[in-house]
Amino acid sequence: MSLIITWYGQSAFGLEADGKRILIDPFLSGNPILETDPDTVNPDTILLTHAHNDHVGDTVAIAKRTGATVIATFELANFIGSQGVENVIGGNHGGTVPFDGGTAKFTPAWHTSSYNHNGTVVAPGIPAGFVVRFGGKTLYFSGDTALFMDMQLIADEELDVAVIPIGDLFTMGPKDAVKAAKFLRAGTVIPCHYNTFPAIEQDAEAFKADVEEQTASRALVLKPGESAEL
Ligand code: NI
Ligand code: MN
Repeated sequence: MSLIITWYGQSAFGLEADGKRILIDPFLSGNPILETDPDTVNPDTILLTHAHNDHVGDTVAIAKRTGATVIATFELANFIGSQGVENVIGGNHGGTVPFDGGTAKFTPAWHTSSYNHNGTVVAPGIPAGFVVRFGGKTLYFSGDTALFMDMQLIADEELDVAVIPIGDLFTMGPKDAVKAAKFLRAGTVIPCHYNTFPAIEQDAEAFKADVEEQTASRALVLKPGESAEL
């Protein structure tokens, strides 16, 4: 079974395997690093790590058009549901949610979670990451987070892939992300949440070199819009 991952910039990823499609944090329209028409994606499942606008993105429009199931922490799932999305599943840290083709386990993340909804700031739910089992692989999407020691527990999930932010300012920067890679012991590390705007500019190739020098993982640097088979 082949598993294809696509990076849409920031923390937006697509996964496709066995005719099933997942989107994670689909910030597609208005993404400064890559503009993707949200009408061109057709997920069965959408995973949201937290409520910030650069993660929720086009979730409501995509879910309404496709009928995709949105999985998020309890309060955020309810908030998405309150906007007319029919299929939402709320969970919380430590819990596992089955979806069409796989499962998603909620992990902690050290971050905040708010949302500018038509000019009003609301704060539905707390941030999370996901351990996703899909397409024969186990992938960790940390969401926006600082480095934290409990990533060593997430390594026990035997990760094929770890997707972690390197942008600094709002999340861990590259030095802490190398430490995260040490903790996570994934086969492949994919950096995200960088170069979307000037405040989070980073050298992903330097990060890749550090990961491959200091850990047993390989690093995969995707260009915005690029896909790779895992
Ligand atoms: Ni955030
Ligand atoms: Mn973010």
